[in-house]
Amino acid sequence: MRALTVEPGRADSAQLDKVPEPPLEDGAVLVRTLAVGICGTDAEIVAGGYGAAPAGRSRLILGHESLGRVEAAPVDCGLAAGDLVVGIVRRPDPEPCRYCAAGEWDMCANGRYTERGIKGLNGYGSDYFRIEPEFAVRIDPALGLAGVLLEPASIVTKAWEHAERIGRRSAAWQPRTVLVTGAGPIGLLAALLGAQRGLEVHVLDRATTGPKPQLVRDLGAIYHAGRLPQADAFRPDMVFECTGAPALVLDAIRRSGSPGIVCLAGLSSGQHEFNLDLAALNRSLVLENDAVFGAVNANRSHYEKAAAALGAADRSWLARLISRRVAPEHWAEALRKQPDDVKVVLDFTQ
Ligand code: BGC
Repeated sequence: MRALTVEPGRADSAQLDKVPEPPLEDGAVLVRTLAVGICGTDAEIVAGGYGAAPAGRSRLILGHESLGRVEAAPVDCGLAAGDLVVGIVRRPDPEPCRYCAAGEWDMCANGRYTERGIKGLNGYGSDYFRIEPEFAVRIDPALGLAGVLLEPASIVTKAWEHAERIGRRSAAWQPRTVLVTGAGPIGLLAALLGAQRGLEVHVLDRATTGPKPQLVRDLGAIYHAGRLPQADAFRPDMVFECTGAPALVLDAIRRSGSPGIVCLAGLSSGQHEFNLDLAALNRSLVLENDAVFGAVNANRSHYEKAAAALGAADRSWLARLISRRVAPEHWAEALRKQPDDVKVVLDFTQ
């Protein structure tokens, strides 16, 4: 079968390979891959900056944002042939730590977790994959190709859940405004969840053309192209920083309301040194009861809540997030950013 593989740590080593059928040890459920979403993490692995192959191997099958159709599943496992499923990315560490033991592998404390398509486990970017039933999430068939958005949606579902738990430190907390920085898939899905909660949602992105401004407006949210109103005129109750760009991270922290909640959901790449008055920043964080926290990955409960959120979203809006479908043979094109890209997927039905 076809599989997009890479040698982690070696730049430009990705290629479409022929590999054997997925081994039974990957799980009892056999899935025919329909689509695999491409994200910044994949680009970083292909560039040699991230990722790890399975133990004892040199190459890793890429792909952690999956959508597939069950071909065969054991009886009574909760899944049956024909079901549309998405694979959970992370697996608990072998120990397991107290978080992994409780099913909260997204909070793994010792870093020995594995992740399909990223760290130590083959991913879903092959014609077929196998998976353990408890790590496959069945989705509403009506979602169709938009089901490939479940993995990124699970990430923002977790981020929202944690932000709201922090908010509830005060019994009087009642957020009204939320700022999302970055109108990529993560930012747009974070904005969707804000709109579903009835909040006033603002999205900041560089794009002045292309689909992003209208995608934001179609949520009933406000789009800011390149710059925000003066900080004293706009201090959102919550900020979801989805770019990892250092200047935006700092602005998010400075601009959040009082008490403010800032969720950092974007991974920065490279190194950026910055001149920063940490004393002033500390003063404002303390005096305003601000909370700044990071959020990564998701556990099964987040996938299930994210599936409900996608189910409640406008189907045509979700479909517009998938801006390009690329055949696996042309995977390199999928990784090459184009100006109007939102989410690019490898279409394994081609
Ligand atoms: C994935 C997460 C993963 C993170 C770090 C992200 O792209 O969506 O599931 O935990 O990368 O490896």
